Amino acid sequence: MHQLLPRDLRDAIRTIPDYPKPGVMFRDITTLLGDAGAFRRAVDELVHPYAGGKADKVAGIEARGFILGGAVAHQLSAGFVPIRKKGKLPHKTVRVSYLLEYGEDEIEMHADALVKGERVILVDDLIATGGTALAAVKLLRQIGAEVIAACFVIDLPELRGADKLRDAGLEVRTLMSFE
Ligand code: PRP
Ligand code: ADE
Repeated sequence: MHQLLPRDLRDAIRTIPDYPKPGVMFRDITTLLGDAGAFRRAVDELVHPYAGGKADKVAGIEARGFILGGAVAHQLSAGFVPIRKKGKLPHKTVRVSYLLEYGEDEIEMHADALVKGERVILVDDLIATGGTALAAVKLLRQIGAEVIAACFVIDLPELRGADKLRDAGLEVRTLMSFE
């Protein structure tokens, strides 16, 4: 199969100006997901440092983190833990609120989704301000998980989210950045 270079992977992202509100350059991963070679390459790139049983679970953030996180978990033979917007999970949850690049929200996960000491990789499509990922790390650490890395396809470095995660002691892996 044709091997995609990182440059081609970047070309697989579609940018939509002024969505969902004026001033935001929305980086749309649906075009990457719809391209079989780009999707496979992105997932392979995200997982390869963690092959060989380094992670017990992968936690994915709703909604786009579910698509990538599910594929990453399958490839690592790890379990998958959904981190969801509030009110969507049926059993007892832990919850935290956070700020977005364009708003505010709350996320939660099942309190019994992880056992204390389990090694977890956090996966999402994109890191912007880092508010969502930091909230997710807080949830995971709250229930005793060891977050071994946080992985994203896209970094928006001007918003400094990846720096904030590194300051919180996390290994951060991103495949491309957009200024
Ligand atoms: C997007 C993206 C990340 C988050 C990043 O999700 O998928 O989860 O924003 O922003 P941050 O680093 O500033 O927190 P969004 O909240 O738009 O939800 P969606 O995936 O359900 O569309
Ligand atoms: N989430 C937060 N900021 C975003 C952006 N610029 N594009 C896509 N998703 C986002």
